[in-house]
Amino acid sequence: NPSSCSMEQGRVLGRMNCRSKGGASGFKVAILGAAGGIGQPLAMLMKMNPLVSVLHLYDVVNTPGVTADISHMDTGAVVRGFLGPQQLENALTGMNLVIIPAGVPRKPGMTRDDLFNINAGIVKTLCEGIVRCCPGAIVNLISNPVNSTVPIAAEVFKKAGTFDPKKLLGVTMLDVVRANTFVAEVLGLDPREVDVPVVGGHAGVTILPLLSQVKPKCSFTPEEISYLTARIQNGGTEVVEAKAGSGSATLSMAYAAVKFADACLRGLRGDAGIVECAFVASQVPLPNSHPVYIHPSATRHVTELPFFASKVRLGRTGVEEIYPLGPLNEYERAGLEKAKKELAASIQKGVSFIKN
Ligand code: NAI
Repeated sequence: NPSSCSMEQGRVLGRMNCRSKGGASGFKVAILGAAGGIGQPLAMLMKMNPLVSVLHLYDVVNTPGVTADISHMDTGAVVRGFLGPQQLENALTGMNLVIIPAGVPRKPGMTRDDLFNINAGIVKTLCEGIVRCCPGAIVNLISNPVNSTVPIAAEVFKKAGTFDPKKLLGVTMLDVVRANTFVAEVLGLDPREVDVPVVGGHAGVTILPLLSQVKPKCSFTPEEISYLTARIQNGGTEVVEAKAGSGSATLSMAYAAVKFADACLRGLRGDAGIVECAFVASQVPLPNSHPVYIHPSATRHVTELPFFASKVRLGRTGVEEIYPLGPLNEYERAGLEKAKKELAASIQKGVSFIKN
């Protein structure tokens, strides 16, 4: 096709030395679902990220156009497009980070769980590709329902013997971004100064903003707490309804995904003190050979659930530390119990999808 033709010509005619020099120091990133509502702005923002040297754009439709378009941006990353399942392996080979926004979004009246039947299969197929081509890559999973797709990915990796819990992260950053924005509005602050931990999962009552731990230190009235909690939990639905059938959050999600991917890449580079919220395997099983007596501190766990969103420290190997939830007030403890109940069912649904 004409766009890949002109790109190919450029590669042949270009002075390869300069080109490869510029790209040698960064990371290789693939976006799966790159032609979608999230995928396109995400691809654009990743092309602007100086930590990225190679950007692979994969989708089952429209990647030649998106790739041609984005490849004209005069930033360092080399962009390549991949179309359809037969090009998935080339898209994934050698990647350091794989970001997955592939799958259908919600329409008004739908819950994230209504997407399960379609998106579970898509995530499974893409993760099987990761197993074959870049089993050591960090995976940022955006496709909903995140509370189930992350367990699905984990099961695919476990089956293949490549599961590394430090490298699989469900992206809940949009909940944090929304929480920072809405809390800043109430407090009359600049959202960039506000840090709200959001834990649990990424759907309805599983989204648990910890308003007692907001930085800078502040206090809220009971009315403010219930308004903020509801608005943060329903932020996605607010956008779905405003878009009235044309999809869910894409632009704020792309922003959040890039904020999160950038944190992962800075961690990989070795930067210190990178802490973000993410939905991760929060209870790491010890190897079979471990002595029978297990000291409680020998396992990393936040709750009794196998997956949970909480603050994590990102480093050269991915998730290097998972932080405990910290002191919760009564309102948050009640919210946590509700969240855990729904989360347990969503996690189980994902696990069963692969096991059965
Ligand atoms: P979209 O429909 O605009 O784009 C999805 C893209 O995935 C399309 O280009 C489609 O061709 C592609 N796709 C479908 N099957 C594929 C496959 N097998 N391999 C590769 N690509 C495939 O949807 P949008 O708005 O970009 O949303 C994508 C997903 O992100 C949805 O599941 C949505 O629910 C989720 N999402 C997650 C959020 C989060 O906070 N984690 C926030 C907002 C959306």
